[in-house]
Amino acid sequence: MVIKRFAVIALLTALNGIHAAPTPQLFKREDQLSLSVDSSTVKFDVAQGVKSSSRLNPQLISLSIELGNTIDFFGDVGKPNEFSRQLLQNIVDRSGTSPVLRLGGNTQDKTEFCENCPDTLHSIIKVDPSNPLSTEAVNVTINGAFFQVMEENVPPTTQYIFGLNFGNNTYETAQTEIDGALKYLDQSRVLAYELGNEANLYGSYTNKRPKNWTVVDYGKQMLEWIPQLSARTAGSPPNFQLGSFVGPPTYFGDFSLLQLTKMGVPQNIEGVKYIASYGYPGNVCTNASAAQVQLPDYVNHLKTVEFVTQYQGEIVAAKSAGTVFHIGETNSAGCHGMDGVSNTMGALLWEIDYALLGATLGVDRLFFHNGKGGFYYSMWEPLPLDASTPAHINPTYYSMLFIADLVSGMTVPTISRIVELDTYDLAHYAVYDGHGLRKLVLLNTHYHNGTTETRPSHTLDVSSVLGRNIKFRRLAAANTVAKSGITWAGQYVDSSGHITGDSAVEHASDGLIRLLASEAVIVETD
Ligand SMILES: *[C@@H]1O[C@H](CO)[C@@H](O)[C@H](O)[C@H]1NC(C)=O
Ligand SMILES: *[C@@H]1O[C@H](CO)[C@@H](O)[C@H](O)[C@H]1NC(C)=O
Ligand SMILES: *[C@@H]1O[C@H](CO)[C@@H](O)[C@H](O)[C@H]1NC(C)=O
Ligand SMILES: *[C@@H]1O[C@H](CO)[C@@H](O)[C@H](O)[C@H]1NC(C)=O
Ligand SMILES: *[C@@H]1O[C@H](CO)[C@@H](O)[C@H](O)[C@H]1NC(C)=O
Repeated sequence: MVIKRFAVIALLTALNGIHAAPTPQLFKREDQLSLSVDSSTVKFDVAQGVKSSSRLNPQLISLSIELGNTIDFFGDVGKPNEFSRQLLQNIVDRSGTSPVLRLGGNTQDKTEFCENCPDTLHSIIKVDPSNPLSTEAVNVTINGAFFQVMEENVPPTTQYIFGLNFGNNTYETAQTEIDGALKYLDQSRVLAYELGNEANLYGSYTNKRPKNWTVVDYGKQMLEWIPQLSARTAGSPPNFQLGSFVGPPTYFGDFSLLQLTKMGVPQNIEGVKYIASYGYPGNVCTNASAAQVQLPDYVNHLKTVEFVTQYQGEIVAAKSAGTVFHIGETNSAGCHGMDGVSNTMGALLWEIDYALLGATLGVDRLFFHNGKGGFYYSMWEPLPLDASTPAHINPTYYSMLFIADLVSGMTVPTISRIVELDTYDLAHYAVYDGHGLRKLVLLNTHYHNGTTETRPSHTLDVSSVLGRNIKFRRLAAANTVAKSGITWAGQYVDSSGHITGDSAVEHASDGLIRLLASEAVIVETD
């Protein structure tokens, strides 16, 4: 069986320069009006929808950050990265909660804690232009101040999944790290500790495990290590996240959550509250795999359905073991994403569609991965890359704002997909609070690259479920390939990370919404 190589040493020449666009150019909607109109009625059994709905976690879209880039993202002690802090604060301001930050990734398995080392974070990076992964550190050392940064440099409610080193296969390394965290970090800020990153690849891509490394070996080590790590605190034992296998799960071989739960591993370790799979629908790790990464595939809703559905068995397994299921690290294309795909309006629509679909299937949170410099899929670039490229957001940042506004004002939001209405370029989600339908999310994911004469549209009639008087907020851009100029309800994020411009809520008294290709709305009764 061919295993998708998300973490291989690749031969790909580093992708060409970063194209940043810190100054959004607001496009005029009138320029985009098209003649081709397609209309449909949004009608479904609301009572049935509520019954089949799943929890919509306000932190559905959370963040994974390459551990070795933590200081790049959040700054050092007393010198917070104000851009990053503001970007997180925007989400808190709207939803009342900060996304969970998972610090991990490949560098998690290269990290050690060193109490007496002078630098908050010291890393060794060996850049190889032929390997897109080589911008990741090969050795990371952190001291106590690192945990101070985690506490002080982000909104105070921010919680973490903290990645411990399991890859190096030295128990003492993980123990020293958790000892540091227990000593220097307020434990109420830790949602869970995660032991290892992409542990199913250790046999194939590292020399720290035998080539025949299996899920049984993994399970045995978890049964040994986690109880010992938990015992390091005299306080209440910490939570752990288990699994962390990269997928989609069909490529796992024996490394699946299904196997792990069949073996009884999570059930027999106290404190295992979360189980995670990772996943990338494509990757740019080799030229051959990069050639397969095409934006039209990401905005094809039915392909996204196909991708997410692969996790169904893993979700069921995680829940059967009494744990919460996370897609613990994910993004559009492994090995840091692709310019023109991962940093576009299309990727933003894909992220929203992917996350909401996941929620309907029982995914509690998804952790979209980020790193510094050449990580095309990052939601933002935390530092200037060079004299002409300042710190900036990428379109995908708006996915967090979108979810924040979706859950805002709701007590226990739940979500269902209106399956029967979906097509390759139209996605419909219903969001409830208690027994009532509160909002609809409608996505027109139709691919429009801006070069065709007319921009197609869909007109949707929601009057039968929300009434004729409706209000809606629109996610807009010039086209699917736009890397900048995104607006959410008329507003955009400026170069300092603040939300700027007047909020534009649209109203209609006929229940009709016209959605241009590559637009999305949140609709509610007016
Ligand atoms: C991959 O593509 C790059 C740029 O197109 C090229 O320079 C390089 O030789 C290719 N690598 C292989 C192994 O074909
Ligand atoms: C990482 O660097 C530290 C000092 O900077 C060194 O002591 C340690 O051996 C290095 N670890 C690895 C795995 O190279
Ligand atoms: C990693 O493992 C090697 C043995 O394979 C050991 O010598 C080294 O000290 C370990 N480094 C860390 C950071 O744990
Ligand atoms: C796995 O490989 C090691 C040698 O690296 C060998 O000693 C061991 O018996 C193998 N285990 C299995 C289950 O084949
Ligand atoms: C844009 O889309 C049109 C129609 O699908 C296609 O013919 C054209 O090659 C595309 N242009 C670019 C730059 O992708």
